[in-house]
Amino acid sequence: MPADITFRNVRVIDGSGSPAFAADVAVEGRRIVAVGEAPGGRREVDGRGMVLSPGFVDVHSHDDGAFVRYPGMQFKLAQGVTSEISGNCGSSAIPNDPGRTFPNDIAGGAAEWTDLDGYFAACMAQRPAINNAMLVGHNRVRGLAMGYEDRAPAAAELARMRADVARAMEQGAVGFSTGLIYQPGRFAETDEIVALAREAGVRGGIYATHLRNEADKLLEAVEEALLIGRESGCKVHISHHKAAGPRNWGKVGESLALIDRAAAAGQDVTLDVYPYTAGSGPMWQYVNLDRIDTAWAANVMLATCPDHTEWEGRMLPAIAEELGWSLDEAVRQVLTSPRGKEVLCIHFIIDEKDIETNLRHPQMMIGSDGIPDLRGRPHPRLYGTMPRVLGEYVRERGVLSLEEAVRRMTSLPCERFGLAGRGLVREGYYADLVLFDPAMVRDTATYEDPQQEPEGIAMVLVNGEVALEAGRHTGVGSGRMLRYGVA
Ligand code: ZN
Ligand code: CU
Repeated sequence: MPADITFRNVRVIDGSGSPAFAADVAVEGRRIVAVGEAPGGRREVDGRGMVLSPGFVDVHSHDDGAFVRYPGMQFKLAQGVTSEISGNCGSSAIPNDPGRTFPNDIAGGAAEWTDLDGYFAACMAQRPAINNAMLVGHNRVRGLAMGYEDRAPAAAELARMRADVARAMEQGAVGFSTGLIYQPGRFAETDEIVALAREAGVRGGIYATHLRNEADKLLEAVEEALLIGRESGCKVHISHHKAAGPRNWGKVGESLALIDRAAAAGQDVTLDVYPYTAGSGPMWQYVNLDRIDTAWAANVMLATCPDHTEWEGRMLPAIAEELGWSLDEAVRQVLTSPRGKEVLCIHFIIDEKDIETNLRHPQMMIGSDGIPDLRGRPHPRLYGTMPRVLGEYVRERGVLSLEEAVRRMTSLPCERFGLAGRGLVREGYYADLVLFDPAMVRDTATYEDPQQEPEGIAMVLVNGEVALEAGRHTGVGSGRMLRYGVA
């Protein structure tokens, strides 16, 4: 019986972290049917000595809305990403109240669905190119229950939030996320988060958090996350681990030491990082107009700015200088323009050395944190994250081995986020596969020109179908919606 596709002449990096080996790999239907000796295939692919690995998992995405708007997901597929975790930083497209919108909702805005089942059905109707698993976000849950109010929830409001988290988990969400730096999440005290995370924890889910503080109070914020994990019974996952601002650079070492101590004491903690020195997000969320932080503003670039598209891709100080404004005034002009709440910024706040420290940690996964607003000039991480790790940090700098990088992008996240039957090149596993050239793979997206697909990714299979080949997106639409622990 011939297989559908057989790969010959490849080096398999199977995702487990073990060394690359020569083998043939056969795919039949949606699954891998042979690794080693493989039967002939209806299609035979000569890998020309390239690496065949499991498809990459982007553990930190904001693509909830993108799955409906851009089902081809070309910015991720072109990186070799075959699955991702949406609903991060407390911002998720579920639960939803159709017709209701929230200020700068990076999860996707107005939609017809109300819950995870409805959202997944809407995604599948678009025939998405890649797989999607989902966290339920605190900001969304809180926003629905009590708006953007700066107070503790009443008993009935907390009950509604708990029920929303529980329902999402029962429908297959992989966990609960927070964005404690953002409104309205930041209005919550620790005990509220514990009560909600417990709904995820009792169902085996994860607590994924954008910490309350990533700067001067990073360590306190990590302590809070660990406490929430212990009290709620959740496994903890710290998102885009970083120390923001020059006076905090280097602190990721202390933060990782804190996490290692917790792990040694029996707590289950993982993390993710993106390989760039700039963060990005909705600008209004970072600014207090009564007390503008000009040291911060000096390092800000505009990504999306609907009222002034000519400012996109430019640094704030340059814009201010051109228009004869103070930096203060420039921030005010940007944010108080009619569509100021839609402005996304890029801020250069991270130390290059901290990225390397992060990447050396064995529990560190890779998450793009890309924001799929294609109107402007999004942070290049949307297009470049995985190839940048493989090209820059593995090949050029030798920060981690190729096998280890692949493990962090495949089996580790699949195990962590309950993506059953994925993340390894093994018989019986789903055929989410990437064929890439380790000597060539590299990101080409830049801050100036971010919407550029990487090089060196030769072929991507999603659930056994060829989704990308020789730089061409096939449009086959073989992505699935993944429920926690369901193969
Ligand atoms: Zn975040
Ligand atoms: Cu994020």
